[in-house]
Amino acid sequence: MFRTHTCGELRMTDINKEITLAGWVQTVRKFGSITFVDLRDRYGITQLLFSEKLNALLDANPLGREFVLQVTGTVNERSNKNPQIPTGDIEILVHTFTILNKSATPPFTIQDDTDGGDDIRMKYRFLDLRRSAVRKNLELRYAVGRSARNYLHENNFMDIETPFLIKSTPEGARDFVVPSRMNEGQFYALPQSPQTFKQLLMVSGYDRYYQIVKCFRDEDLRADRQPEFTQIDCEMAFVEQEDILNMFEGLAKRIFKDVKNIDYTEKVERMSWENAMWTYGNDKPDTRFDMKLCNLKKPGSVFTDKSDHAALISGVDFKVFDEAETVLAIAVPGCSEYSRKQTDELTEWVKRPQIGMKGLVFIKCNADGTYKSSVDKFYPEEKLKAIAATANATAGDLILILAGAEERTRKAISDLRMYMADKLGLRKPGEFKLLWVLDFPLFEYAEEDNRWVARHHPFTSPKPDHIPVMIDNDPQISNAAEYLSHPYSGIKANAYDMVLNGNEIGGGSIRIHQRDLQEKMFAALGMDEAEQQHKFGFLLGAFEYGAPPHGGIAFGFDRFCAILGGSESIRDFIAFPKNNSGRDVMIDAPSAIDDKQLVELNIRLAGS
Ligand code: AMO
Repeated sequence: MFRTHTCGELRMTDINKEITLAGWVQTVRKFGSITFVDLRDRYGITQLLFSEKLNALLDANPLGREFVLQVTGTVNERSNKNPQIPTGDIEILVHTFTILNKSATPPFTIQDDTDGGDDIRMKYRFLDLRRSAVRKNLELRYAVGRSARNYLHENNFMDIETPFLIKSTPEGARDFVVPSRMNEGQFYALPQSPQTFKQLLMVSGYDRYYQIVKCFRDEDLRADRQPEFTQIDCEMAFVEQEDILNMFEGLAKRIFKDVKNIDYTEKVERMSWENAMWTYGNDKPDTRFDMKLCNLKKPGSVFTDKSDHAALISGVDFKVFDEAETVLAIAVPGCSEYSRKQTDELTEWVKRPQIGMKGLVFIKCNADGTYKSSVDKFYPEEKLKAIAATANATAGDLILILAGAEERTRKAISDLRMYMADKLGLRKPGEFKLLWVLDFPLFEYAEEDNRWVARHHPFTSPKPDHIPVMIDNDPQISNAAEYLSHPYSGIKANAYDMVLNGNEIGGGSIRIHQRDLQEKMFAALGMDEAEQQHKFGFLLGAFEYGAPPHGGIAFGFDRFCAILGGSESIRDFIAFPKNNSGRDVMIDAPSAIDDKQLVELNIRLAGS
């Protein structure tokens, strides 16, 4: 037998047992005539004690870091206990040992605080994966997957695999394509999601489907995006939006319980897209803290019936505010005593190209009831006081105000809100808040092509009341500048996103299930009949054979895991991730292929 126990298993109750362990050498420490070795495996670390008797053998067979070692010995109580690890009360008095395999010196230390930088760890990811910090992330990922599978199974969902070699599924990114050797000059696309297949399964009568499935998107990468990532992909037939929200709120809560032992009993808050944008400046707000936006000058007309406070800031000839499309403020709690250096730092922060603002205006709401601002020249204290009251600021707050073009300013203030929250420790690790964002616009206007694009995807149903608006109006936009006044701008979708701590962890919709409405949708997106037939003929055809009403959702599995694990970088939760240029530096992919392969595929590279 290779081993009788694992390296994380032995306790005081095992004292005097004769055992065999196998694992990797983490450290070797020589103390005079005795040698201590920490032996590691997936389950933990156990201290080995090599007594003087083994010195000659050890000298002949020296142990190095990451050697694979098998030892037999007895479990002893340690004189110097280590309360940090579960096996810390015992050690193994080694009788015999075998080096099962040697190791080259690893390029970084295999410890939680490793000395290895990101690049080297990714190149040697198989070693990085030995570190317990990484292993814990993968264990968490496994637990999330298991919990999801259990919940979905208990609720009658059936796991059905869908193909990877398909035709393009539009989810808003570029496709990865695969050339077909047997069909010269033709290509498969890798699925950006199983969207159309899960809808076809509904037509086939599998009324509750799920799959934990890889999706492929050729898009610019960020901490929360990988070119291949995993979704918990689900679809249900004979449901309304409410059924889906309840079912998948249940899934999220079950994961919290199973993985983090958190009883998330309260109903998940719901917020319309419009309210999220108005109140937080983005559609995936972190609602663990307030710092809500105050719209001092109402931004564009997507917001219906929302008051603005332009009168408060006008009339003093402050051009920055007078000329700006929008002016947005947040009241940051407890920061009225910020020094010049600190406010300067914030100004520099908003001027960085990623944020792109020209400057920052602040008002200090001093504890003694007075106000001091960077625009005292223009605004008398009375006016500052009125602005502060409108912004819901109280004594001790620092009001930060940004002015400029609508979209940029809105994005900047919501980034600033998060930046300040991070600074103030308001985004507490271990504190989780879910949110449903509902009633998204069905369309977005793509300025460069002067046409509508689907905000979610083209299979998403409009709200029933808005269907006539879609049918009765010509999608054509005559004047690009006025797209907001086109009736399509106001059409809302039966779509929903699930947000966790300011991250979009899932999204879905009620689908279109009627052929004519689907055709109308494709046409609204600028697809003529031939293109519709070429790209989605199979789906339109299927809708003629009794498609039930249906809807679904997909969770970003990697993202959900990362946030539960306290990180916003999904790479830490993927065994073999790609770097920011989409490369796997360990296997060195992507890479060139042989001429012979190119010939077989009938592909000639441009320039060759
Ligand atoms: P969507 O495109 O919103 O919806 O994707 C669902 C969820 O997947 C995650 N996600 C990603 N995670 C890592 N890397 C990426 N590149 C990436 N892109 C998306 C996000 C997102 O919320 N077919 C629809 C779902 C549906 O309508 O049922 C879809 O794919 O957390």
